[in-house]
Amino acid sequence: MAIKFGRPIEMRDAPRRQTALASTPLDLTIRLRRNRKAEWARRLVRENVLTTDDLIWPMFVVDGHNTRTPVASMPGVDRLTVDQAVRDAERAAKLNIPCIALFPYTEPSLRDEHGSEALNPNNLVCQSVRAIKKEFPEIGVLCDVALDPFTSHGHDGLIEDGKILNDETVAVLVKQALVQAEAGCDVIAPSDMMDGRVGAIRAALDEAGFLDVQIMSYAAKYASAFYGPFRDAIGSAKTLTGDKRTYQMDSANSDEALREVELDIAEGADMVMVKPGMPYLDVVRRVKDTFAMPTFVYQVSGEYAMIAGAAANGWIDGDRAMMESLLGFKRAGADGILTYFAPKAAEKLKADS
Ligand code: PBG
Repeated sequence: MAIKFGRPIEMRDAPRRQTALASTPLDLTIRLRRNRKAEWARRLVRENVLTTDDLIWPMFVVDGHNTRTPVASMPGVDRLTVDQAVRDAERAAKLNIPCIALFPYTEPSLRDEHGSEALNPNNLVCQSVRAIKKEFPEIGVLCDVALDPFTSHGHDGLIEDGKILNDETVAVLVKQALVQAEAGCDVIAPSDMMDGRVGAIRAALDEAGFLDVQIMSYAAKYASAFYGPFRDAIGSAKTLTGDKRTYQMDSANSDEALREVELDIAEGADMVMVKPGMPYLDVVRRVKDTFAMPTFVYQVSGEYAMIAGAAANGWIDGDRAMMESLLGFKRAGADGILTYFAPKAAEKLKADS
């Protein structure tokens, strides 16, 4: 069957070069493949680039000494004792990765209903921040604000009669943020999705004199199946009762994401984040186009596991899938990406440059 290619409508008035084309069955003045004919040409017309400056490296810390424990569901990712986290911070600094993010695996005996360990100025996160900032003050350190690594029930907030309390939780999160800022954290990243927490944290930080401590809000954070491996890593998978759908967003919504982001900006967020990443690229684009804010995206544990797991089985080319997924975030409008691939991607970018 012959397929006819018409001229694109917008080309109707373009100069006609019928003579050259008359002898061919196709009327193709415009050939997009010309710009793809060689690597130099592809480089020349490339619209988006990924650089090391775009990367934030999330790390898991655990009690102990000189130990790295693999996270089974995240091939290539380890839980690190504080000394090892300092070593990885050094690796980040050498690779020119601007910022790292810290998440604790809290000993079960230290978890309680109220997540009190979150307020311990000497908890794992605070120890790690101090140790890393002491040796590598030039690297940015981001700390998550939420109670789930510290609660016996695995929820991000306080619970009463099966309900997650909003305002009471915010009061605790404010204290948690202050404890982290005191330890030397550069960026406070509330990931709890309580209403009003960004404003409350900003006010408290300012009052305490932490005027330069930034807030990156997990502004549009969805209730997602893709957090599974993370919950293994921080040890909350088994303990989590129920789900987080009364505070994290419904994955069907994107207008609501704009309202969430708008509120967080109004409350004082310096940077906003969409999470997870790959299933929500449309949300990243809408947020960037609507607010023109520094916009981040979290390629979460489940996304990492899918790529790393398939690669480990030889089902996909892991390096290429990694780079393609990261570039996709840039194309969608993200200014930066939290990704467990950060060191690998940075190494590849360095090797290719
Ligand atoms: C804690 C938090 C979660 C993640 C980041 N901070 C898990 C959750 O909300 O259940 C997920 C990160 C990942 O999956 O990589 N509130």
